[in-house]
Amino acid sequence: MQDSPAESGPILGIETSCDDTAAAVLDAQGRVLAEAVSSQMAHLPFGGVVPEIAARAHLALLPDVVARVMAEAGISFADLAAVAATTGPGLIGGLIVGSGFGKGVAIAHRKPFLAINHLEAHALTARLPALGLGAEFPYLLLLVSGGHCQCIAVEGVGRHTRLGGTIDDAAGEAFDKVAKLLGLGWPGGPAVERMAKDGNPTAYRFPRPLQGRPGCDFSFSGLKTAVATVIAAFPQGALPYQAAADIAASFQAAVADSLADRATHAIAMLRETHPQADLMVVAGGVAANQTLRSALQAVCDTHGMRFAAPPLRLCTDNAVMVAWAGLERLRLGSEDGLATAPRPRWPLAELAP
Ligand code: KG4
Ligand code: ZN
Repeated sequence: MQDSPAESGPILGIETSCDDTAAAVLDAQGRVLAEAVSSQMAHLPFGGVVPEIAARAHLALLPDVVARVMAEAGISFADLAAVAATTGPGLIGGLIVGSGFGKGVAIAHRKPFLAINHLEAHALTARLPALGLGAEFPYLLLLVSGGHCQCIAVEGVGRHTRLGGTIDDAAGEAFDKVAKLLGLGWPGGPAVERMAKDGNPTAYRFPRPLQGRPGCDFSFSGLKTAVATVIAAFPQGALPYQAAADIAASFQAAVADSLADRATHAIAMLRETHPQADLMVVAGGVAANQTLRSALQAVCDTHGMRFAAPPLRLCTDNAVMVAWAGLERLRLGSEDGLATAPRPRWPLAELAP
């Protein structure tokens, strides 16, 4: 399909797997020429992402978002070396919109199409040249978002080992549910973090799920239930602000302790197979939380690991990471057929050749 040799031109990346409609153009060296994210506010009244609303919003927003980044990069589709679009895992409606759009551009302009796994895109972000993190394989990725909570050994492009993951809720989901119990808005993470600043993190001793257990799986539903039980002990609608702040701070401390414990185990697991590994990267919206960042930084300091948290806009869903993952794969000579179907479920293990 390809008119121009790989790496001869810029790459367009498209991300539509959840509620962010995003596009980015990177040059052949991975420098960001243009990027745009349009977050869908239409979900706010529902307190969570509504898949059908998300799909319709992607349909409405994506053409303009792509046109904006192409104009800002000062290029036309004909100048592209390739088109990369998130093809899974995620909400199927959005995946169909984004990958269909990407394939359309690829067909019309005879460019290679790259079907990008969203988790791999998060995993490879740390290797963006502009970040200067020196993220050579292998390294450890802790992905903590509203939809995902996993520890991954990133061993190469297309080569990832899932060391552990949540057995119930994702970390961000736990923040969102606790925010709801406290009567805060959605998304809940930032609201809980703000309120926690006014509270005492030792006021309530909430459980530290799975602490000390082997492996690096996560669990948050028991912690959420413990928070709900404490709140239910107050008469309805009569939770004093200080008590709410103490609950928020104590919950956040429990999540931080749990993540720190699980990350410690993940480091040990990674070093069993890769004793030379020295970098832990955190990604996902929950990585915005300062208390969690400090806890993970402390774990890394203790265990002789470097700790890297990419800038927040690259931790949350974005298209720079999709374009970059596409570039990494293009450099290795890989390309996907236009028949590649979007996949709501697409475990990283299935990327291996
Ligand atoms: O990565 P992301 O933007 O979207 C996906 O889930 O894919 O992550 C959003 C999640 C939400 O659950 C949100 O509550 C959580 O990240 N979050 C936070 C913070 N900021 C966002 N959780 C804790 N503290 C924060 N400051
Ligand atoms: Zn994501």
